[in-house]
Amino acid sequence: MSMLFTQARIGSLEIPNRIVRSATAERLADDTGVPLPELAALLATLARGGAGLIIIGHMYVSTCGKAHPGMTAIADDSAIGGLRLVVDAVHDEGGFIAAQLNHAGMKAAADIATPYAPSDVHPPLAARPATRLSALQIHAIIASFARAAERAVAAGFDAIQIHSAHGYLGSQFLSPRTNQRTDAWGGSPSSRMRFLQETCRKVRDVVGPDYPLLIKLGMVDQLDGGLQLEVSLSLVEQLADFGIDGLEISGGISQGRSLNIRTVCEEAEEAYFREFGRRARERTDLPILLVGGLRSRPVMEDVLKAGDADFISLCRPLICEPDLPHRFENRLQLRSSCISGNRCWPEQASDMGISCKCLSRPPKEVS
Ligand SMILES: Cc1cc2nc3c(=O)[nH]c(=O)nc-3n(C[C@H](O)[C@H](O)[C@H](O)COP(=O)(O)O)c2cc1C
Repeated sequence: MSMLFTQARIGSLEIPNRIVRSATAERLADDTGVPLPELAALLATLARGGAGLIIIGHMYVSTCGKAHPGMTAIADDSAIGGLRLVVDAVHDEGGFIAAQLNHAGMKAAADIATPYAPSDVHPPLAARPATRLSALQIHAIIASFARAAERAVAAGFDAIQIHSAHGYLGSQFLSPRTNQRTDAWGGSPSSRMRFLQETCRKVRDVVGPDYPLLIKLGMVDQLDGGLQLEVSLSLVEQLADFGIDGLEISGGISQGRSLNIRTVCEEAEEAYFREFGRRARERTDLPILLVGGLRSRPVMEDVLKAGDADFISLCRPLICEPDLPHRFENRLQLRSSCISGNRCWPEQASDMGISCKCLSRPPKEVS
């Protein structure tokens, strides 16, 4: 029997197979961040398609942390009702769903008056100038992650994932390029980890000891003088002490899409963060989810068999074919049809929804 279709645990959550839907910003919320009915329908479709765990696209924990139009809010208690409908839609199909919590920091949406970052950041590092957070503001953001976690539990999510990848606030604190502070929140690798450590601990405090808590960690940020692999590996070693139950491995920043969202044409190009998974495995016993360019069933099985990861996390392949897990399980298909052409986003920033446009149109060049 294929390991892909065996059960495994993340903390107290028993997941029926090893295929995870990696968080994917669905852009299906209204201007106030309330999910549209289409979001529940999309996630229910993914649950029907056989993904063992679905991680909802990043949700903003406070208004100044909104990254783009259509992003879902979990920033105040009024969000709970709408999120419960989304969770129920997945549960009705027998699926599990995790809440991804995020703060955009310097990558805040254009309608957010002042983007914040650990230090003052200027273009081209940020799209527009970002202002250094005060210590008070840092504590307030950490508290907003904790309150968002309470809301996720109240809405019925089965797990929470803290986003610390792709150039958002968590990774901005980790990177010496965007965190040049010399106070308690910067100045050394361990001080740059403090934002994450405090966030994880505060979230753990409110969700209790048994609630599954994951992190998505960008292992490197692709910036000169930025976050180095050795530093992330020492962070990986400490994640269990921070209260984390599972680690999703990623990397890069979204501006330079080349590292995080690469084009994958051949098997040899798949699983482009596999080496990070293997190195992380040497430092932690936590379950590892590997994302990035996984496309074919034999490669996925090889990753699991080698122990480089415990779960295979997929984003673009499930935009292309939401029922890919079932198709793999029933051997209807051995490879995703996704050509990683990166046409998943709306053509206009203000448009809603994501969809695969590559199969009908030529792929878009990525930098
Ligand atoms: C349309 C789109 C939206 C994404 N949204 C998120 C998100 O909300 N949170 C996140 O952590 N990663 C997000 N990502 C990154 C993916 O989760 C994943 O790390 C990346 O696409 C590489 O995996 P893949 O090769 O399976 O697509 C997004 C990627 C795409 C293409």
